[in-house]
Amino acid sequence: MSILPVRAWRALSARGPRYAWHKVLRRSLGRWPSWKRRLVYADPRHYWTMRGGHDYFREQEGQAARTDRIEWLADRIAAYRPASILEVGCGYGKLLRALRARLDCHLVGVDFSATQLTQARSFLGGLARVDVALASGTRLPFIDGAFDMVVTSAVILHNPPPQAEQIRREILRVARRFAAHNEETSVSYNRYGYDTAAWYRGEGLDLVECGPIPADLEPESSQFCVARLPYDLPDELSTRLG
Ligand SMILES: C[S@@+](CC[C@H](N)C(=O)[O-])C[C@H]1O[C@@H](n2cnc3c(N)ncnc32)[C@H](O)[C@@H]1O
Repeated sequence: MSILPVRAWRALSARGPRYAWHKVLRRSLGRWPSWKRRLVYADPRHYWTMRGGHDYFREQEGQAARTDRIEWLADRIAAYRPASILEVGCGYGKLLRALRARLDCHLVGVDFSATQLTQARSFLGGLARVDVALASGTRLPFIDGAFDMVVTSAVILHNPPPQAEQIRREILRVARRFAAHNEETSVSYNRYGYDTAAWYRGEGLDLVECGPIPADLEPESSQFCVARLPYDLPDELSTRLG
């Protein structure tokens, strides 16, 4: 493992001073989470634009536990046999790829980080009927009821409460039958932590399943839930969307 100045120099040569500064702060403020939140995480979109890219991809793909969790999630989601899926905050496309291996339906991912999407385009390249686009979950560029199921995995938790609420409302708007979420309930410098299942219950919506993720590194704070939505699709739109 190389020391911080060496890593900083490598980061500077690879992606310039803003990225290097971001990396130094992220790596050096471990013992001061409130400062880390203020200095590194004030703007989640900026954070993820800095964080995304080849280093992040390599780091994540090197963790077997992360793959186990995604495989578990993909199995659960595929069990609903959705006619189409939107993943909000698709990152570099790990879940979309696992879903493609299980389902034939149209898969769409959006993310507000351009660097994550560049990586996703390469990781998902060549897979049929998978599209990704740059967009924020707070304002989804889709018509009402455009997708049979909308999924988030470790996304809403990265947004402060007002944005988290906007994302949930947008999901309810564009989803027809199901909304499925893997969202941690614990808090850290870059994680707000929400009880998504409680939010759905508070909205008077039914949950078809809810529980911890056995394959998670922190099962006690992990949560996977699927809400059944009351969307009443007009006949004409239903035929068009399939
Ligand atoms: C921890 S990664 C998870 C990626 C992917 N869902 C997975 O499980 O592999 C979180 C991703 O959510 C994205 N994200 C967070 N908030 C978002 C928002 N409001 N709109 C769009 N993307 C968002 C980040 O850019 C990042 O790529």
